[in-house]
Amino acid sequence: MTTKIDIITASPLETYLSQHGEEAWAAALTTLLRSIHDVDKNATQIWFAFFPLPLFEAFQQASDPDELARQLLIKGDHQLKNQIDSSHKFIYGHRYWPQVKSAVAALATSFDPSAAGEKLADQILKVAGEVARANKFDESLVVGITAIAFMTLQQSGLEALKNAKGEMLLDSKHAKQSPEQILRDRAKDNSQGLFGFLKTVDKKWTVTHDETDDKASYQMNNDQDMAWGASDDRTRNWREIDPRRPEGPIPVECRSASCGTCWVGVLGGAEKLSDVAVREGKQIKDFGYIDTIEPKPIIRLACQAKTYGAVSIVIPPWNGVFGKFLKTAKSQEANSNGEGEEITASQ
Ligand code: FES
Repeated sequence: MTTKIDIITASPLETYLSQHGEEAWAAALTTLLRSIHDVDKNATQIWFAFFPLPLFEAFQQASDPDELARQLLIKGDHQLKNQIDSSHKFIYGHRYWPQVKSAVAALATSFDPSAAGEKLADQILKVAGEVARANKFDESLVVGITAIAFMTLQQSGLEALKNAKGEMLLDSKHAKQSPEQILRDRAKDNSQGLFGFLKTVDKKWTVTHDETDDKASYQMNNDQDMAWGASDDRTRNWREIDPRRPEGPIPVECRSASCGTCWVGVLGGAEKLSDVAVREGKQIKDFGYIDTIEPKPIIRLACQAKTYGAVSIVIPPWNGVFGKFLKTAKSQEANSNGEGEEITASQ
């Protein structure tokens, strides 16, 4: 599948991007990861998992997007165009968003079609390098957010990208943190007291669910799943903030790997979570959140992942069940040789 655009009004860069589907982007991301600073390696991959291109394309092709959202049990906001400035607040490179967004918006119209044969990763690296040099930024901190800006253009269009304010949304304290400080904080574990090494079941761990907010963390017991631990956090009216959060900061519904509500990205400490068990592995693929399962992936179901150390996570703004739907769409497209057959979620 490739992105459907209005070729009369689309900018040259949008036309170029529309020829890049899921596989081209996956290849570009693999290449780019080598140039992305450690602080944003997981974060960038998590962002791309939160805003999957095939799901965006399915909505573009749907005759009734509202009906499709109902069929895929989408809750929350899955549309990137509604959160152009905020979707990447958890990425370190968000600090450079104003400059990166301006550069990509400018390139959209000035893009030279004769460069269309160049690889996507090279185009992204070129822009990241230019922004880094012009502003004296460390290039490795700009590559991830530049890839995000390209994908945001592909999914939102130039007008929406231009109309977004291009704001950096961090407070001054968090904006000043160095990448090394953030990596050190992620690596820290809770002290368990003088005889902590003797403790087993009564160890306590911190789960940070928003690194850009000092109050966004909760304590939980060793060997407890993250969603269960979050339910004791009464520090805010979570339901008012997000109706998907009936108790605590983690959105939950079934607590048994059946609904997909509790998916989270793991920015730091993935190795301190329990291995993915058979049910979590099967369900997370069926939901569509990730395709291949390693023992310690960076996308988890919080109601299944047990904690054996402090972790830093990020909560996506939406959830749904779309894995099987997208697989069916892909095989239908292959069978119909790109004739654009209409698909339904029930297949
Ligand atoms: S709460 Fe339903 S899958 Fe975790």
